[in-house]
Amino acid sequence: MTAAAPHATVEAAAPALAQLRAVADELGYGQLYGALAGGALFPADHAEALRAAHAFGGAAGATLRLLALGDRVALAGLDERLASLGEALAAVGLAALDTAAGALRLVDLVAVPVLGGLLLTGTPPTFSTYEPSGGRAYLGEDSLRLARALPRVHGRHVLDLGSGCGVQGVLAAAGGATSVVCTDLEPRSVELSALNAVLNGHGTVEVRGGDAYAPVAGRRFDLVVTLPPYLPEPPGAPDAVVAAGPDGLGLLRRIVAGAADHLRPGGELVAFAQLLCDDAGPLLARELPGLAPTLTPRLVAFDQHPIEPFARELARFTAPGDPDGIATALLDGFDDLGVTGVCSAYLRLLLPASGQGARSVGSPGASAQPRRST
Ligand SMILES: C[S@@+](CC[C@H](N)C(=O)[O-])C[C@H]1O[C@@H](n2cnc3c(N)ncnc32)[C@H](O)[C@@H]1O
Repeated sequence: MTAAAPHATVEAAAPALAQLRAVADELGYGQLYGALAGGALFPADHAEALRAAHAFGGAAGATLRLLALGDRVALAGLDERLASLGEALAAVGLAALDTAAGALRLVDLVAVPVLGGLLLTGTPPTFSTYEPSGGRAYLGEDSLRLARALPRVHGRHVLDLGSGCGVQGVLAAAGGATSVVCTDLEPRSVELSALNAVLNGHGTVEVRGGDAYAPVAGRRFDLVVTLPPYLPEPPGAPDAVVAAGPDGLGLLRRIVAGAADHLRPGGELVAFAQLLCDDAGPLLARELPGLAPTLTPRLVAFDQHPIEPFARELARFTAPGDPDGIATALLDGFDDLGVTGVCSAYLRLLLPASGQGARSVGSPGASAQPRRST
């Protein structure tokens, strides 16, 4: 494991992570979580889920409250395996043990059993325990969308750029990738990507901190996978890490432009994003030939929606204090760009094997126009 910033932390945490995995298996955490979340990534209603976990009672209820819901659990009467796990996690800073109050909780974390593994991620914003901490080690429904659309990873060198909690990198390692590198700008994401690699038994995953391709300068991969921050930033948005810019393309544009220098012949970049569209389709489509002239693009756009409800929802989410003012500013900016809608999109950029030329966006096999889902 190479982990630029948190190397010592990850090495020290390995025994506690092994214990977490063992306790989760022993207590059937995957099934319990499925029952609590009803098949969703996170329980939709935190208060309701807490009530349900209390109703479970015993070790099952305590496990769900501690690991799934970020709740404080009393040490008195706590299942011995959970108490011992709590101590081990507290010793490496992943849990807080309040001996005076006789209680234990994870530190801004939840554990999500998903895609055949177990992933630590920041407390979701929908939970009452959520405290914005500047970094979340992201995991979302869009992460799963991208994960389920990953091309072959077996035998390939894979880069997970903007790895969040490391979901794509962990999945690639589990799928038999020859090597995996996870990179992220945000320190908490770097730390949790490294922890999750070890938690899932993939200690050879390399984790590096830094901007875009900077941590892998001069290196090439068969597959670059990325779920960049894509939500357009409202004017004056405070979150420097997001850096998606007013059209949501800030980081994705740079990732696309740098792809040719980081792909091996026959390699590909795959991304999922929501994209702003005008009447001709996603704004990104017309930029692709200029951004990546040597790569063959495949842009499959679907699920298009009108822009105004999207802008209002985005404003409500990012600026609850003044949603109407922010929505108006967003819509003015979108108007200047000719934006009429927003769609979901999978982007693939292929670097032809030596000797083959790149095709244009509009050529056979490439789909640059939005496709509405049925
Ligand atoms: C939407 S999350 C995706 C996380 C994960 N790959 C997934 O599939 O869920 C985007 C990630 O990009 C990271 N990020 C933002 N700006 C970045 C930059 N300039 N360079 C590298 N990573 C960046 C964020 O910290 C965040 O972890």
